[in-house]
Amino acid sequence: MPGDGIGPEVADAGVAVMQRIADSFGHRFRFSNQLIGGAAIDTRGDPLPPDTIASCRESDAVLLGAVGGPKWSDPNAQIRPEQGLLKIRAELGVFANLRPVRVIDELAAASPLKAELLKNVDLMVVRELTGGIYFGEKKRTPDFASDLCVYQTFEVERIVRVAARLAVARSGKLCSVDKANVLETSRLWRDVTIRTMANEFPNVALEHMLVDAAAMHLLARPRDFDVIVTENMFGDILTDEASMLAGSLGMLPSASLGDSKRGLYEPIHGSAPDIAGRGIANPCGTIASTALLLRHSLGLEEEAALIEKALLDVIAAGARTADIARGNDTVLTTSEMTNAILAQLE
Ligand code: IPM
Ligand code: MN
Repeated sequence: MPGDGIGPEVADAGVAVMQRIADSFGHRFRFSNQLIGGAAIDTRGDPLPPDTIASCRESDAVLLGAVGGPKWSDPNAQIRPEQGLLKIRAELGVFANLRPVRVIDELAAASPLKAELLKNVDLMVVRELTGGIYFGEKKRTPDFASDLCVYQTFEVERIVRVAARLAVARSGKLCSVDKANVLETSRLWRDVTIRTMANEFPNVALEHMLVDAAAMHLLARPRDFDVIVTENMFGDILTDEASMLAGSLGMLPSASLGDSKRGLYEPIHGSAPDIAGRGIANPCGTIASTALLLRHSLGLEEEAALIEKALLDVIAAGARTADIARGNDTVLTTSEMTNAILAQLE
């Protein structure tokens, strides 16, 4: 699902990388292109047409570019591109959004933070994706607006389990981020997290952090974080912030997983309408998302690791799109960066 803005440009890059992997390893991937977001509103009047949903359900994995743009951003609009994205997440039941944040040493200069703070930063944000304020009842009159934030015990339990399993495979530490000093949903979140961890993961060190403090500590001492688990909106905000550790929003991939192998894979950035159609978007977040796709949905770990290594190698060798270029760096277009990664894969 290419979507809107730079979505089609980066999705093309991701498909090219997957195709190259298929050719080299003798796999055959069957691709189908589907409408979502503004592109679907324009042609079908629906940000998530039924055939898009059907196609996603028939697929082993879904790759998404991005949705949204000024054309569909009228605040009074009843139909918005983002509704398509939220609906497909809910339809596919992908409640666990994994957002790994890895700092590539050579990109330290692209970050607004001091290089010494960034050394060895490697964290994983597990964002709850199908609940909370994004999905609660919305009300609006001319002088009143409300967005309901709801969480149920089972929703917290299942996301905490995903995060805890990742923590076991990593450093054995889990940081749960909430706003339990103010929000009732956060107090439920914290209670359920404590109970689930004590019962099922007694050996994982559990820490709780208030979201405002987490926003600060992420910049002050990012290295101290490993696995973070948090609710939908906090995870959205904290990962845009965390992308600055990696140098650009364009670098970060994500995997959205549910109870089955099928997942939804997308870069964490948006449709970037300001640079759409110019061929200069950074495809790395999407290409890294294809690695997650191969790993989590197709069980192709070796292929996934190869993509990640190729990406790392070309960045280390100096390949830079505009968003991560500094000083005298040569700036690559989207397809030049993609081709560099394809060449490195060979
Ligand atoms: C993201 C995006 C989406 C979100 C928007 C486009 C609805 O910001 O994937 O992080 O808020 O989840
Ligand atoms: Mn976001």
